Amino acid sequence: MNVDSLLRALEGTSLAQAIAESETLFPWIEGLHVLAITLVVGSIAIVDLRLIGFASRAHAVTRLTKDVLPCTWAAFLVAALSGGLLFMSKAMTYGHNFYFQGKLVLLVLAGMNMVVFQVLVNRDVERWGSTPHTTPLPAKVAGALSLCLWVAVVAFGRWIGFTLHPTLGAS
Ligand code: HEM
Repeated sequence: MNVDSLLRALEGTSLAQAIAESETLFPWIEGLHVLAITLVVGSIAIVDLRLIGFASRAHAVTRLTKDVLPCTWAAFLVAALSGGLLFMSKAMTYGHNFYFQGKLVLLVLAGMNMVVFQVLVNRDVERWGSTPHTTPLPAKVAGALSLCLWVAVVAFGRWIGFTLHPTLGAS
């Protein structure tokens, strides 16, 4: 089964067709998607700006991540589910859209940056996390890179809607 037949199968499901044909479902789901991604990017920016030393300087990194990240993960789950529903409604069109493909690549890079930070940098956060001037350079770089990647995800996400060209063989 090649990618195009997989996309066509996804787009042919009754759920995908219900979203595609309804005048209200797609805008409501996209509204939920926008709300969720605002929480994802907004909460991640709080931690990243602390790592860079621009904001929340009085707060320890451990305390900030403990308070903020549960909200980030919950919002990410909603963003991924709502995004998946939007995607399946026009899977062939989105699957061939440069900005949609680019957004997924950027999402993976943002995820990898988070994993590298957690595994390599955050392991001795108790030593450096309480005051901004002890933040090590790798943590600042991880914070700055994360901010740039998430801004790029949002920009690519926004550009999807401006660059949609129905693909031949799409239902
Ligand atoms: C937390 C991660 C994500 C972020 C930050 C994000 C960001 C965005 C943004 C900014 C838009 C434009 C919304 C608008 O202004 O109308 C968008 C639209 C969209 N996203 Fe996401 N997204 C995320 C995850 C996903 C995932 C995992 C998928 C699918 C697997 C997805 C699929 C879509 C689709 C299909 C659209 C609609 C494009 C359109 O027709 O306008 N998104 N996303």
